[in-house]
Parts: sequence; structure tokens; C-alpha cells
Amino acid sequence: MSPTSRLADTRRCLSAIASNLLARFAPTLYVRLTRQTGRGAGDVGAENNAGYFRRCHAEYCARLGCDPEDPQALAGLQVLEYGPGDVLGVALMCIAHGAERVVCVDRFPLERLSPANVAIYRALLTGLPEGPRARAATVFRETGEPASGLDPARIEYRVTHDGTSGAEATFDLILSRAVLEHVHDLAALFADMRRALRPGGVAVHQVDLKSHGLDRQMPFDFLSWPGWLYALMYSHKGFPNRWRVGLYRRWAEAAGLELKALAPTGMLSASELAAVRPRIRPELATGTADDELGWLGFWMELVPARHTAVGD
Ligand SMILES: C[S@@+](CC[C@H](N)C(=O)[O-])C[C@H]1O[C@@H](n2cnc3c(N)ncnc32)[C@H](O)[C@@H]1O
Repeated sequence: MSPTSRLADTRRCLSAIASNLLARFAPTLYVRLTRQTGRGAGDVGAENNAGYFRRCHAEYCARLGCDPEDPQALAGLQVLEYGPGDVLGVALMCIAHGAERVVCVDRFPLERLSPANVAIYRALLTGLPEGPRARAATVFRETGEPASGLDPARIEYRVTHDGTSGAEATFDLILSRAVLEHVHDLAALFADMRRALRPGGVAVHQVDLKSHGLDRQMPFDFLSWPGWLYALMYSHKGFPNRWRVGLYRRWAEAAGLELKALAPTGMLSASELAAVRPRIRPELATGTADDELGWLGFWMELVPARHTAVGD
């Protein structure tokens, strides 16, 4: 490593440790100062944000094998979403397409009814056809009026100390997107998921294995920091846990969940993987096959394993 890279790494460490302490002792202030939405930086406008939630809905439906335009695609379902970010747009789209109730659980208090977020809810309502729009309008305290706030009987937002739901055999569908890679006790989250799923229920997760801006000189070299130093820098800021797909598979199965599908969303090129491969810390890659190490993310679908029941 050149002296310049070493200096850049030292600077990065010191500033990351300082902001990690802020996030540890003043999480709400940290979230406000860093203006976190969950969807990344920048105000991209109500219509673009609404488009993001429409895309999420369409992709979840594609995984579930249902038509995203079908007004009854999720008829009667009780839904749990982990880590929704600051706008409960996925929840609104679920209710619009027939879900009965959605509970959103997060570890960080990101949800906000700011004018920008109210505009996103309005854009989502406007973009829906009549039937789904009428259903979606009922999620607000005053029907059709996003500024009145969400009615917790239809869409409930909960912040818990570890981001788990504590629910027992309650949900038919569990969703998350760009969340599991931030969770520091995945075994506990999968156990929560197993307990929260009803028999016949399904969990659909999209996991982003990229560096979230932490690459130093090459893609995936954030996987080379020793665990103790990485924890000092990032443990309280919702940064990625860095685990590769094998550990997700292992912890999900240990919790009594069965893999229904597992598919990559993208991959490093062969030359990028060859360059970084010797630097990846082995403990992050446990149970991960060589051809899975370059995955940039994946979809994971889980159902309760046949031989387990809640309480096993
Ligand atoms: C990148 S954002 C994704 C937000 C949203 N799902 C989306 O697609 O826009 C990550 C979300 O996960 C939440 N999160 C971070 N760590 C978590 C944890 N340990 N348990 C549950 N949620 C967590 C964050 O607060 C945030 O809501």
C-alpha cells in the first residue's frame, strides 16, 4: 500500500470513528444531520420517488408470481416490512393491491411526514387506477389526505432497539429491500422472521452486497478491514455488515426457514473478483462458494421449513 493510500485510510478511520460515536450516543441527531431517507442522498422529486416505490411493488410481485396491476394481487394479506426508510410507499402499494394491514419495523426512526414525503404519497395515489387508489386513500387518518398522517390500524410504523418485530405467527408476507445487509444480528432477524410468519407465509428480500460508498481502491476492498476496526468505524451507522451470501443461507436455515429461491442481482467481473479475492476476510465468506463471492446482491425467498413450527 502506498503512503498516500495509507494516509487516506487513516483519515477515513478517524472521521468514521468520530461519526460512529455520534450515531452511538445521539442516533436521532445523526439521522437528521446526515439527512437519511433510506433511499440514498438527494431530493429527486415526488414523481421519481413514487416511481421507485412502484418499481419495488412490481419487483416484489414478480418474485411472488403475481400481476402488479391486479388490484387483488395481495388480497387479504397481513404484511410485515423490515426497514422501510422514511416513506412507507411499499406499504401503501401493498394496501392499494389488497393487503389488509402492513406493519413496518425499523431500527432507526427515519419515517417523516415532511412536505416532500407528503408529495410522494400524493404522487403514489395519483398514479393508481381508481379501485387501488380508493383502497390506498383509506390508509390516512383523513381518507385521501396524506398530510393527516397514516392510520396505524392500516399501516403501523414501529421502531425497535434491534429492528425485530417480536410478532408470533402473524404475517403472510414479509418484505425487505436493501435492509438485511445493514443488520448486525442476522441470526436474530431470521429467527424473528420465522416466528412472525404464519404457516404458508413467505418472506421476500432483496439484499445489496455492494460497498455503500466504502470502496477504497477497488470494488469490494471494504471487505479487507479487520472486523474490530470496521466495527469501531461503522457499527452504529447502519452500514453494511459485509457478510457474503453463504452466511445469510446458513443463518436462515438455522432459524427454521427453507430457501425457496436465491438469485444474484449482478456480479463483479472476473478480473475485478480476481484482484480483490486474496483481500476478502475469510470469516465474511463462510459457506460462500467461489462463484458466489462476486455477487453484488441477491433476491432471497424463504418459507417456514416443513419440519419446524413456531416455538421449535
Ligand atoms: C438503505 S435503507 C432501505 C430503505 C427502504 N427499504 C428502501 O428500499 O428505500 C435501509 C433501511 O434499513 C434500516 N435498518 C438499518 N439497520 C437495521 C437493522 N439492524 N434492523 C432493521 N432495519 C435496519 C434503516 O433504518 C433503513 O430504513
